[in-house]
Amino acid sequence: MFLTLVSTPSSTVRVGVIGFGQWGPNHVRNFSQFDGCDVLRVCDASDARLTAAQKFLRGVAVTKNSAEITDATDIDVVVVATPTSTHFALVKAALSAGKDVLCEKPLAPTAAECAELAALALAKGRVLMVGHVFLYNSGVLHLKTDLDRGELGRIYYMDAVRTNLGPVRSDVGAIYDLASHDISIFNFLLNAQPLEVSATGNSVLQKGVEDVGFLTLYYPGNVVCHAHISWLNPRKVRQLTIVGDHKMAVWDDMNNLEPIRYYDKGVTADHYSSFGEFHLILRDGQITIPKVKLAEPLARQDHEFIACVRSRRQPAASAEFGLAVVRALEAARESLRQHGRSVKLETA
Ligand SMILES: NC(=O)c1ccc[n+]([C@@H]2O[C@H](COP(=O)([O-])OP(=O)(O)OC[C@H]3O[C@@H](n4cnc5c(N)ncnc54)[C@H](O)[C@@H]3O)[C@@H](O)[C@H]2O)c1
Repeated sequence: MFLTLVSTPSSTVRVGVIGFGQWGPNHVRNFSQFDGCDVLRVCDASDARLTAAQKFLRGVAVTKNSAEITDATDIDVVVVATPTSTHFALVKAALSAGKDVLCEKPLAPTAAECAELAALALAKGRVLMVGHVFLYNSGVLHLKTDLDRGELGRIYYMDAVRTNLGPVRSDVGAIYDLASHDISIFNFLLNAQPLEVSATGNSVLQKGVEDVGFLTLYYPGNVVCHAHISWLNPRKVRQLTIVGDHKMAVWDDMNNLEPIRYYDKGVTADHYSSFGEFHLILRDGQITIPKVKLAEPLARQDHEFIACVRSRRQPAASAEFGLAVVRALEAARESLRQHGRSVKLETA
């Protein structure tokens, strides 16, 4: 979708970053390194983080007041890298002041807030990108190309595992924090949104904040996707298995050398015997390892944001895309509350 040109950013895109915790510094590094980009100001609510920012960023002003970024006339674009619970107010302020915005995932806690932000961006003719960084991951992009070409045939199911010990959050549970990645990947690869979600899990470290979640998402065309996510797990696993009727694939995001394997494996229903038996023929063929050219996903994502700002177009990780992810997250949280009862999604 192309946007109305409300104003042209000056030849150098002037960036303000709100949130200098664990993730914000990565955005600051990227935008500082891009040609034609300048990080002018960094905001954080914590004195300690502002001191850290001052130490590492020479020539960048720091502030505790986010309005000094959202309302500043010398800032063109705002990057929001604060906890999810703060996204709505900060993004709304930035869009209202006519800024293009890159907001970390998930866009906001509720689908209603996401829809309001998407509508505001549209009304203001502003770019609103959500940091669904896996849409810019080399492995995911490789899978997407092959899935769109029909290499795996009809997709039966996908199964994702995203576990580690920490980082533990308290403003959102593991479902919002971690499954937001897997849902973004499922939606992107299938070019669809789930119709129904069911989720179980458990909150053991903090009351009402789940540490582990098991999500089942039902997509159109009888495709089932499952995600096991946890920040309370001994092993760091980032894996996705895709089973199609033609081939199967395993993507291991922890493997930097050979992240994808295609298995020429499958099962064919062949014939009935004279006794009326159903025969399944197993196909156990070659394993192929495609060459995947790796690049830093966040740098690619941030680069795409600047390209969208300059060309006035919306990115793949648009506000609408972010809204669809939050719709599924909201349904998963509701299902979790109801001990796994399936929740139908309200679609647009
Ligand atoms: N795409 C990814 O892979 C990825 C990875 C990590 C984090 N994230 C996302 O980035 C965001 C931030 O995560 P993090 O790990 O950096 O969290 P964090 O808690 O380490 O840092 C957040 C920072 O924001 C500051 N802050 C809080 N409220 C503020 C406000 N109103 N104004 C200004 N500063 C404020 C805090 O002081 C803190 O320094 C989250 O939305 C998270 O989901 C994305």
